[in-house]
Amino acid sequence: MNIIIVNNYEEMSRKAAHLFVAQLLNKPDSVLGLATGSTPVGMYKELIRFYNEGMITFKYATAFNLDEYVGIEKEHPQSYWQFMQDNLFVEVDLPFDRQFIPSGTAENLEDEAHNYDRRIAKAGGIDLQVLGIGRNGHIGFNEPDLKFEARTHVVKLDEQTIQDNSRFFSNISEVPTLALSMGVKTIMQSRNIILLASGKEKGDAIQKMLSGNITPELPASVLQLHPSVTAIIDLEAASRLDIEALRDQYKIVTPK
Ligand code: PGA
Repeated sequence: MNIIIVNNYEEMSRKAAHLFVAQLLNKPDSVLGLATGSTPVGMYKELIRFYNEGMITFKYATAFNLDEYVGIEKEHPQSYWQFMQDNLFVEVDLPFDRQFIPSGTAENLEDEAHNYDRRIAKAGGIDLQVLGIGRNGHIGFNEPDLKFEARTHVVKLDEQTIQDNSRFFSNISEVPTLALSMGVKTIMQSRNIILLASGKEKGDAIQKMLSGNITPELPASVLQLHPSVTAIIDLEAASRLDIEALRDQYKIVTPK
């Protein structure tokens, strides 16, 4: 894993966008793995800027999102389908029929999960996956558990996740309690992964992710086993790291 520590959210967003731009320039028909939440919003803004400047096109790309709430319509303001429309898709030229997000209102969620993995496999797997990290160490909606779930699956959301995501809803009781999420195997099969973290509330999860212990109780820790992860972490999210000690294990770039 390469670790790039940056000063703040803006720098994190810019660096992450640069990796996406490089990916699209090298391979215009890339399969992109996308994430929702507050963390990647700045990166999407940067990508829209690069798109508007004519530097990149999404015309040949395909996108798969990590997860979606179960039980809310895709047009619901807080659905991840709607989030992607608002934060990226309406602004760029990614064809509508190559914007994949699991459907949280599918009649048969097991079939939906299975079909989602089949679609990813048929597209050739994910070239570049972006991940945020939950305060509890989740990636996608792979919540702390006793085992890693391999494939796309239905998840019961953690109390902490429901609490954290309640900021987007008018009332905590409106936050869905179930979601569909790509599994750990699907994520780990991505050729390249960028993990983004900003803010001191992520400090504990980041420290545990890099601690050397690999456990489904801190799902992001599995990324230590992936051959091509770049973690872009701002100073606040990195505040609990013993950077000098970690240099034995990781290539770390720190801000000037
Ligand atoms: P956030 O969520 O970007 O809104 O902090 C990250 C996550 O839960 O993966």
